[in-house]
Amino acid sequence: MKFENVQPGQLLTPTEAMRLAIEEGKKGAGFVSPNPLVGCTIVDRNHRFLAVGYHAQVGQDHAEISAIKKLADPEMLRDSHLYVTLEPCAHQGRTGSCAKAIAPLGVASVTYAVEDPNPLVAGKGADILRAAGVRAVLFSDREDVSEAERTEITAQAEDLAEIFLYFMRSKQVFVGVKVATTLDGKMATTSGESKWITGELAREHTHRTRARYDAIAVGRNTFVADNPSLNVRHRDFPGFQNRVVLFDPEGVTLAELPGSNLVKVRPPESVWALVGKGLKPKNPAGVHVIEIPLNEKGEFEIGDVLARLKLEGLTSLMVEGGSQTYGNFFSSGFVQRLHAYIAPSLLGGRHGVAWSAGFGSGTMAERIRLRRSEREILGEDLYWTARVEFA
Ligand SMILES: NC(=O)c1ccc[n+]([C@@H]2O[C@H](COP(=O)([O-])OP(=O)(O)OC[C@H]3O[C@@H](n4cnc5c(N)ncnc54)[C@H](OP(=O)(O)O)[C@@H]3O)[C@@H](O)[C@H]2O)c1
Repeated sequence: MKFENVQPGQLLTPTEAMRLAIEEGKKGAGFVSPNPLVGCTIVDRNHRFLAVGYHAQVGQDHAEISAIKKLADPEMLRDSHLYVTLEPCAHQGRTGSCAKAIAPLGVASVTYAVEDPNPLVAGKGADILRAAGVRAVLFSDREDVSEAERTEITAQAEDLAEIFLYFMRSKQVFVGVKVATTLDGKMATTSGESKWITGELAREHTHRTRARYDAIAVGRNTFVADNPSLNVRHRDFPGFQNRVVLFDPEGVTLAELPGSNLVKVRPPESVWALVGKGLKPKNPAGVHVIEIPLNEKGEFEIGDVLARLKLEGLTSLMVEGGSQTYGNFFSSGFVQRLHAYIAPSLLGGRHGVAWSAGFGSGTMAERIRLRRSEREILGEDLYWTARVEFA
């Protein structure tokens, strides 16, 4: 359900109010890290639509406050019902506590889709509301909603805030993998040619997907073969700055960075080159060099890489190839989401490099499963995104 299709005063069921909040929350994508994407719908005492809001920018109003500010008169809140995709925060962070702000406003109930795992909040936001006489209830505990709708809303609200929830729960960086592939799973010709597999709409969509992540990672072969920019070029994200993580265990590409597209489109300190510990390579472009120990195969352990990137301040990373780098991430089990752009073309066995060549499952039982798939048609191409589940 989209805000554009909702009339003022329209009667909304709890599920519709929450669906609307989820759609609103998506609008903050690219602007809220390390905060979660959150949306909020307000309905009056008769469940008629009053307002929606979302968390639009880190440091600015949370979704509940943004929705409340849309009301012409605060009196409209009396006996109203709020539907929020995440439990209202209890603590003073960059902004004040939402639960404390809502508590005295005469709101009858606050329904939230997911409990906030942040130890500063977890259940405390709901407690503040209850202490003030506001009915605070988890959507999945509502008995007036069908089980199918409870499952749907909980899953969608979890997906909306997935980077934040994963980071808070596991204390690890969330990893997405993006690949552009032919229908037969090839990401380049055997001679290394890979431009362009997908069409313009898919490529534009990629920029939107990039904006959801704190940084983009590539292997050194992709840097050498493609001289990519890996920035966000999209009208919805003017001036967007992102970081790039380059896997370069021997530091051999550092000399090629001056003049490359990676440093042309961003300050050099936003390029993070991962090199083997103790290597101390020459760094003519002045990029941020991060030393990480190599294992006996001369590779970084992906767990070590992610732990270090977390210390550097990342909560999420999108891996953009190539197949060896995909292989290292999938083999280590540190992938949470796949973003596949699939083109209606074939390269064939002897002519193309399979994007998944770097990892493999020996048995059907061990195969990697993709869950909660969402698909979108982009011109002639298919965008397929799903949660990655390891056996
Ligand atoms: N269609 C698509 O979506 C897509 C996306 C990206 C790339 N591509 C294509 O893919 C091709 C390149 O792929 P590729 O598989 O040859 O190479 P790659 O994955 O880009 O780079 C591999 C190199 O990265 C370094 N590396 C990656 N993971 C590492 C780890 N855990 N520890 C240490 N080093 C690590 C290693 O460098 P060292 O060699 O120094 O050890 C490794 O050889 C290009 O043709 C490019 O155009 C296609």
